[in-house]
Amino acid sequence: MSDKVDLKALFEPKSVAVVGASSNPAKIGHKVLSNILNGGYHGEVYPVNPKGGEILGLKVYKRVAEIEGAVDLAVVVVPAPIVFDVVQDCAAAKVKFLIIITSGFSEVGNRKEEKKIVDFARKHGMRVLGPNVFGMYSAKVSLNASFGPSKILPGKIAIITQSGALGGAMIGKSVVDRIGLSAIISVGNKSDLDEADLLQYLKEDEQTRVVLMYIEGVKNGNKLVRILKDMPEDKHVVVIKSGKSKRGALAAASHTGSLAGSDNVFNGIAEQCGILRAESVNEAFNWSRALSELPLVEGDNTVIITNGGGLGVMCADACEKYGVPLMDDSVLLQNIFKDVMPEFGSARNPVDLTGEAGVEEYKTSLKKALNVKEINAVLALYCETGIFEPEGMSKMVVEMDQIYKKNKPILFSMLGGEKVEEIIDVTRKKGTYVFDDVYNAASALGALYRRKRFIEELKHLENTPDIIINEMAIRRVISKARSEDRRFLMPDEAKEIMKLIGLTLPRWRIARSLDEAVSFAEEIGYPVVLKIVSEDIIHKTDAGGVALDLENKNEVIDAYQAIMKSCRTKFPKARIRGIEVCEMVPRGVETIVGGTFDPSFGPVVMFGLGGIYVETLKDVTFRAVPLALNDAKKMVRGINAYPILLGVRGEKRKDIEGIVDVLLRVGKLMEKIEDVSDVEINPLMVYEYGEGVKVVDVRILLKEEDV
Ligand code: COA
Repeated sequence: MSDKVDLKALFEPKSVAVVGASSNPAKIGHKVLSNILNGGYHGEVYPVNPKGGEILGLKVYKRVAEIEGAVDLAVVVVPAPIVFDVVQDCAAAKVKFLIIITSGFSEVGNRKEEKKIVDFARKHGMRVLGPNVFGMYSAKVSLNASFGPSKILPGKIAIITQSGALGGAMIGKSVVDRIGLSAIISVGNKSDLDEADLLQYLKEDEQTRVVLMYIEGVKNGNKLVRILKDMPEDKHVVVIKSGKSKRGALAAASHTGSLAGSDNVFNGIAEQCGILRAESVNEAFNWSRALSELPLVEGDNTVIITNGGGLGVMCADACEKYGVPLMDDSVLLQNIFKDVMPEFGSARNPVDLTGEAGVEEYKTSLKKALNVKEINAVLALYCETGIFEPEGMSKMVVEMDQIYKKNKPILFSMLGGEKVEEIIDVTRKKGTYVFDDVYNAASALGALYRRKRFIEELKHLENTPDIIINEMAIRRVISKARSEDRRFLMPDEAKEIMKLIGLTLPRWRIARSLDEAVSFAEEIGYPVVLKIVSEDIIHKTDAGGVALDLENKNEVIDAYQAIMKSCRTKFPKARIRGIEVCEMVPRGVETIVGGTFDPSFGPVVMFGLGGIYVETLKDVTFRAVPLALNDAKKMVRGINAYPILLGVRGEKRKDIEGIVDVLLRVGKLMEKIEDVSDVEINPLMVYEYGEGVKVVDVRILLKEEDV
């Protein structure tokens, strides 16, 4: 299925109309026009305003339909009540793309008008970016069709932002930080085109090396995940996903009228797709810059070179935090650096040249590190000292950066007063980024390592086993529930589905009488468990509806009567369909495997440590379906309690393979049976390696029929 949109005429239009262009410099319609004209765009530009005349030296057309030439793109900057008229006019002129900057639509509850506009546009072959956007910049044709800052540096980073205001601010910051952009697009209300469509284009755009996305809520996460999974190795995606905190999520929802996706789900998907989730704009910029300018690191030997011991130690801590592995071959380090070290220096890692080191000693050490093939990356730190000479230092830093950064990552960080500020300023202007904090430098290098590791993993993927589930039979079970107007499956139906996806369950029968309960218990073999079966009793244990570890006939009789009495007293109106008699499974590690239909990202699978603390600890991992073997393995490794599965204090390793198999099967169910909204296997009992796992209890819910 291809839902790919051809966005060439949006990113590389041959002609642009600005509808609502104004001669008043204080108006947005003026700013957009002047940004287009000052940004170096060479295509045709048509200002449109019913007043006619001339603006910024260009003839003004009274209506789009009056423009003689073809119009690829119309930027709409008229008040909301006029937008539909303008869009009709654009349709008559066969415009291909509309960027509707105007606010006042779904973000303030005016969905009807927005839908009317988009439906009309789509019907007439036009695609819509917005409304409620700040516009876009495309370096390919030097088009700045936004009302953001006029100055934008062309480069290799594309920004897709849900917040227009933040987009404008990011342009400003990119200029100050000397970061070049290949594009920046604000998606606003995403009434038609969304971040997935834009990402699809940028994925194939040869100028873009990194896509930085600012996301609040995702509407069509399924499509986004598909494209993210398919990103080429040399194109990196950095995402700032806000709306994490409860308060943040509320703000995000009211901000753009879209719901913020669940945070845990997003983290899982980020890992699954190899995208890097940044906490702040600063972090995102640092990572994007490193990913766009430096090669991915080749191996695990990073060396820190410093003239200050304290700075070096802090940097080593930062490396641990951000997953940057440090070279620890002290003999090799000694050999490499012995000529440049004062006697009291240290040729361990961090390599401490001491405060004696001036520009020359520092340069010689850097050269050694950068030329030795065993060293894979260098963190070059410098503290301001009495013998510090800023001019020579800036020159040297730029020189080293320009010569070596193509071969291996080198990241500079300096700390000090005015002189250091001067270096940072001078070097940044020359295109060398010097960090002012070792943590930022280590974090940027950590981003290169994470991407490298993800790409390495892709090269060693194991084949995902072919899992066949009995779809027809599963659908039959579901139809029965639907025919009875139920959105939940009865325990026997849910267990039947577990069987149909290939999972083994403890032996069980549903007894409709005391005699049946006894005879089923004898048939299954003691010990057994009895459980009430009623759709009206959700918390069975609290209702006194469960009895464990029943060893003989008498215990079964007593338990049966006690369960019936307790449930009938506590829930006199409950429909009781019987009592389940089930084999009592031995204790193992209790885990939970779930599947749910996430409103943003579609079907996802969850794994976590089960038991009574699951809600409290929230030690769970998520991935989107389809689930690969590698994804399932990483889900299991991703929980904090993973050491328990490996076996603690002399315990044996648990049957992780069994869990992975269950995850893949539940993943297949969620992928193939679109009717299912939730599956929860809780607990999935996990035994020692080779002894498998057991689905002890399962619940399955169906989607609302019209979803
Ligand atoms: N075709 C073309 N131009 C038209 C028109 C039509 N049918 N009808 C009116 N215009 C002209 C107006 O005459 C005016 O030009 P003028 O200055 O020469 O009189 C121009 O369009 C703009 O109209 P105006 O009524 O002055 O509106 P405005 O400029 O104050 O505001 C918006 C228009 C779109 C900027 C405003 O409605 C808006 O939505 N602002 C928020 C934008 C925003 O923040 N977007 C999201 C960013 S993240």
